[in-house]
Amino acid sequence: MPLRPLIAGNWKMNGLRGSVAEVERLKSKLDGSTPACDLLICPPATLIMALAEAAKGSAIAIGAQDCHTAQSGAHTGDISAEMVADAGGAYVIVGHSERRSDHGESSALVKAKAEAALGQGLVAIVCVGETEAEKDAGRTIDVVTEQVRASLPVNAAADSVVIAYEPVWAIGTGRTPTTEDVKETHAAIRAELKSLIGDEGETIRILYGGSVKPGNAAELLAVPDVNGALVGGASLKAEDFWGIAAACA
Ligand code: PGA
Repeated sequence: MPLRPLIAGNWKMNGLRGSVAEVERLKSKLDGSTPACDLLICPPATLIMALAEAAKGSAIAIGAQDCHTAQSGAHTGDISAEMVADAGGAYVIVGHSERRSDHGESSALVKAKAEAALGQGLVAIVCVGETEAEKDAGRTIDVVTEQVRASLPVNAAADSVVIAYEPVWAIGTGRTPTTEDVKETHAAIRAELKSLIGDEGETIRILYGGSVKPGNAAELLAVPDVNGALVGGASLKAEDFWGIAAACA
């Protein structure tokens, strides 16, 4: 049975209180219907509560963009998985390449964050992806499978973990890999998941991310083992995000 796609929006460091209107717009597009995919928006931490409130009663889930490994304590500026859940979040992105590069996050740390998320009943979206230099050196599959191996939380299961493959060079650049390359990398991630956790690895969703927009979503979502998308720039406006979700039909 094909996996139900997940279309996840990552607002990154964008959005003020007025952005709640985008969720209202998305809700009105849904008009009470059940979409052909799961819908998720991950705003900055400041907006999780407001968006969760706005999305209440709809098919739109809300999540965070990161969490700490600890449940509470002396970690200035961080938020815990428990806080995300308490604010109404259901998912948390961990190991996004911008955190791996801006904050020097290792796969071991990403794994610990994902485990903290699972411990609070959140779904962890574990991001992996090669840099342009790694791609040019022909190392994409090695880099990505190693990241999956080292970042996957213990007890990963279909209802608690999602993998997002995001080539670093495709994020925010308007460039995307060929569908052949996406197919090859997703197949390698699928094989890695199966070798790590057996049959459960068949049912974990693998999202593609990096310059997904309404115009290329259908093509990317049709690639085998692409079970949804992680969307940055094009998730900020309900119109574009909806255009991507519509490609799941
Ligand atoms: P983009 O970002 O869609 O703007 O390329 C994707 C992401 O970083 O999650």
